[in-house]
Amino acid sequence: MSIAIDKEIIRKFDVPGPRYTSYPTAPVWSQEVDERVYAGILRDFGRSAKTLSLYIHVPFCQMMCTYCGCNVVIRRQEDKYGDVYLEHLSREIDLVVKHIGGKKPVKQFHWGGGTPTYLNEGQIERLFHKAAENFDIDFKGEIAIEIDPRTIDAAKLKKLRGLGFNRISLGVQDFDPQVQEAVNRRQPFDLVKECAELCRELQFQSLNFDLIYGLPFQTQDSFLRTVGKVIALRPDRIALYSFAYVPWLKKHQNKIDPKLLPSNDVKLDIFLAARSAFLAHGYQAIAMDHFALESDDMAAAFNNGTLYRNFMGYTVKPADEYIGLGLTSISFLQDTFIHNCKVLPEYYKLLHEGRLPVDRGKVLNGDDLIRQWTINHLMCQFRIDKGAFKDRFHVAFDEYFSREQRHIARCAEDGLVAAGEDAIQVTELGKIFIRNVCMGFDFYLQQDKGPGRFSRTV
Ligand SMILES: C[S@@+](CC[C@H](N)C(=O)[O-])C[C@H]1O[C@@H](n2cnc3c(N)ncnc32)[C@H](O)[C@@H]1O
Ligand code: SF4
Repeated sequence: MSIAIDKEIIRKFDVPGPRYTSYPTAPVWSQEVDERVYAGILRDFGRSAKTLSLYIHVPFCQMMCTYCGCNVVIRRQEDKYGDVYLEHLSREIDLVVKHIGGKKPVKQFHWGGGTPTYLNEGQIERLFHKAAENFDIDFKGEIAIEIDPRTIDAAKLKKLRGLGFNRISLGVQDFDPQVQEAVNRRQPFDLVKECAELCRELQFQSLNFDLIYGLPFQTQDSFLRTVGKVIALRPDRIALYSFAYVPWLKKHQNKIDPKLLPSNDVKLDIFLAARSAFLAHGYQAIAMDHFALESDDMAAAFNNGTLYRNFMGYTVKPADEYIGLGLTSISFLQDTFIHNCKVLPEYYKLLHEGRLPVDRGKVLNGDDLIRQWTINHLMCQFRIDKGAFKDRFHVAFDEYFSREQRHIARCAEDGLVAAGEDAIQVTELGKIFIRNVCMGFDFYLQQDKGPGRFSRTV
C-alpha cells in the first residue's frame, strides 16, 4: 500500500527520539547495577527453569564505515587481536556460568558486532566450542551471525554452516558506488551476490540484508536501483534502517558532509519508495523497518503477535531471558538491564581481576515494566489491546495512563492512531512515525530525565 505524506506532518514529527530497542532507554541507566547485582541476578536465574537467548559481541572491524553507529573497535587484520579478545571472552563465559551454576538451555544464539567474521576460522571454531561447552545450545533454534561480505570466503562460510549456524545477516547498506565511496565502504554488488548464492547452496535457513536509507548522495532513484538489486537476490528478510546521524556521539560521523545528506523530505520519500517496491515484490512489511518473505519466521512472528524487540532490533522471541557477552553487550535478566563496559582495556582489566565486566544497568520498577510492555506492543504489533493490558497488570489501561490521554488524543487527531474503547490501533501513517507514538508513553522523556540526544525520528 502506498502512503502519501504531507510535508507538514514530516516537519511536525521529525524530532529527536529513541529507537526503543530497550525501555527504559540506555541514557537513563545508572551504576545502580554493578557486578555484585549482576552476580546475584545470575544466581537467581540459575535457580529458575528459564531459557536463554545468548548474544556474543565481537567488536572488531578493519575499517570504519563513516556512518557507523555500532560499538566497534578498528584493528588491522591480525590474529593477535582476536586471540586476546577470545581469551577474555572465555574468562567472561566462565564467570557467568559459575554464577549461574550450570548449563542453561539456549534457544537462540546470535553473534554480532562489529564484525564477528573479523575472526579467523580457528578463532570462530574455538569460540563456538567454548559457548557450546558451557551452554546447552538448541541446534534446531536460531543460530545467527552478522557478516560483512568483505570478510568472508567460501571456506569460512562452510565452517560457519558446519558449526551449526543457520541464519546469516549480511551488511549491504547501498550498492551505489558513489554512496559507498562517501561512507568509506567499497563493496561491489558481485561480492554480495556470490556470498548470497553460497548461503543458499549451503542451505542457511534465512538470509537477511541490512540496508540504510538517508546516506550521502542517496536519491529516490539511486536507492531504487539498490532495492532492485536486492530484490533480484531475494533475501528472506530485509532490515531497512533509517540512518541514525548522531555525530555528537559518534565522532567519525563528522567525516560525512551534512550537505550531502538527503533532506528529511527526500529521506522519507526514499523509504516510502523502497517500501512500495518490497511490497510489490512479495515482501511483507514487518513492524517499523523490516520486510520479510511470507515463508520467513519473522513474518509468522509478526502475524501471530510473537515479534519482539531488543538491542538487535526486531527478533523472533523464543526464550525467557537474554544474556549478552563481550564488550558493550547488554543482558536483560530478571527484569534488569545489565550493560557491559564499553572500553576494551577496561573490559580486559576487569576480567583479569576475575570480575564481571559490568558498567551500568537498570532494575525495572513496576511502572517501567508496564511502559516497557506498552511500548513493545506498539513497536512490534502496532496495537494495544486494553483487555490484554488489564489481564496482565490488573488495572484499566485508560486509568493507568490517564496523564497520557492527551497524547493519545493528539496522536488520533494527527491520524497516527485510532483510539477506541477496547484498543489503540496504529494507522498506516502511525506505523511510519511509531517512535513518536511511543515517546508519549516514555516516563523519562516526559520528566526530561532522558539525557543524551537521540537520532531524529524521520
Ligand atoms: C554490526 S553491523 C552488521 C555487520 C557488519 N559489521 C557489516 O557492517 O556488514 C549492523 C548494521 O547496523 C546498521 N547500522 C550501522 N550504523 C548505522 C547507523 N548509523 N544508522 C542506521 N543503521 C546503522 C547497518 O545496516 C549494519 O549492517
Ligand atoms: S557498519 Fe559494520 S563494518 Fe562498518 S564499521 Fe560498523 S560494524 Fe564495522
